[in-house]
Amino acid sequence: MTTEAGSSHDEAASPAPHGEGTRPRVVLGVSGGIAAYKSCELLRRLTESGHDVTVVPTAAALEFVGAATWAALSGKPVSTDVWSGVHEVPHVRIGQGADLVVVAPATADLMAKAAHGLADDLLTNTLLTARCPVLFVPAMHTEMWEHPATQANVATLRSRGALVLEPAEGRLTGADTGKGRLPEAVEIFEVCREVLAGGSSATQDLAGRRVVVSAGGTREYLDPVRFLGNRSSGRQGYALARAAAARGAEVTLVSANVSLADPAGVKVVHVETTAELREQVLATSAAADAVVMAAAPADFRPASHSAAKIKKAEDGSAPAIDLVQNPDILREISQERTHPGSVIVGFAAETGDATGSVLDLARAKLERKGCDLLVVNDVSGGAVFGSADNEAVILGADGAVVEVPHGPKDALARVIWDEVVRRLQG
Ligand code: CTP
Repeated sequence: MTTEAGSSHDEAASPAPHGEGTRPRVVLGVSGGIAAYKSCELLRRLTESGHDVTVVPTAAALEFVGAATWAALSGKPVSTDVWSGVHEVPHVRIGQGADLVVVAPATADLMAKAAHGLADDLLTNTLLTARCPVLFVPAMHTEMWEHPATQANVATLRSRGALVLEPAEGRLTGADTGKGRLPEAVEIFEVCREVLAGGSSATQDLAGRRVVVSAGGTREYLDPVRFLGNRSSGRQGYALARAAAARGAEVTLVSANVSLADPAGVKVVHVETTAELREQVLATSAAADAVVMAAAPADFRPASHSAAKIKKAEDGSAPAIDLVQNPDILREISQERTHPGSVIVGFAAETGDATGSVLDLARAKLERKGCDLLVVNDVSGGAVFGSADNEAVILGADGAVVEVPHGPKDALARVIWDEVVRRLQG
């Protein structure tokens, strides 16, 4: 079957040759699942942010969303088979010219074909000819995802260097819920950007690795409605989780009171207090290759917690709050390592004081905590909190000093993982 819409055959058949122009060329493959409608939003985000997108749906995908929609949103004609514009050899050229191929949704059937090298339509041909990073974003019912056949196909694709994201959990088609949802389009878009940022050499150097990232700030409750908290937004931890997933890691994100969307392909565990954060980090870090403590756990908690809301006193007096110190999670996991060879990363927000400079205090903290890497932020101006940017020095227990210039938190996240990967490999 061939389906076309738009101005000319030839445009679909011949994306700009590799190296021409500056717009990153993305092939958006869409296979036949109900989640295809969410890929319209992904397409829109890609085109509006300056990507040159060629949509290659399967015939089954067009049962859910028609060719006219893909053509209108991409500004290009759309084909499903290899018989349109044959003189341009589309089954070879679309894949060859791409900087990224993203298949969303990727059905069990599409991944089975890709794993076995079948090539009976334009998308499967494109997957065989692409030499750029390939990202599969699966969506299907839980039973189909968990079936040994699907899992074997996913393992095959991953072993060949493809990035196959873990599906999200939640409401599926119909009344059932479980693992198998397509992540939100904005989060798939972020993974695409992350993979493209790695360039043609984007590697899956965290494939097969388990990593744990903590993010956000914990709350310590005085009563059911009041708590002590801090200003951590969780952005740096979320950027770290997203970057690790884009490099193939199995990521658990322990998130404390963060109002950001769950990153695609990441298992998110939500917690509130330092005790809950500690419990989850200890449970997940036992088998982790790397743990990054980007969260800001409250150092202190009220000595007692009132089950009822604390009332104002008639005489105008205020209650005194006794505090006790919380356990230091970073120190605990660093000093009682359960996974030999793991890399543990801490963060330090320092201002420097009369006893030493920011780096002096950071070096002492690195030693005290016993972690392998310490990411040091100079927070004298308070600028880091809630900001999209960051600037840091990464200190290694091995004496390494890596300066990361002011830039997006995504960029710092990449450098942190570079340092972790170097140590995991070394
Ligand atoms: N951290 C932790 N558990 C705590 C407090 C902090 O695991 N109870 C971790 C943070 O996630 C971060 C690192 O320790 O990775 C540094 O936290 P910071 O608050 O800067 O250091 P402190 O040990 O609290 O030292 P100080 O406040 O005295 O500078």
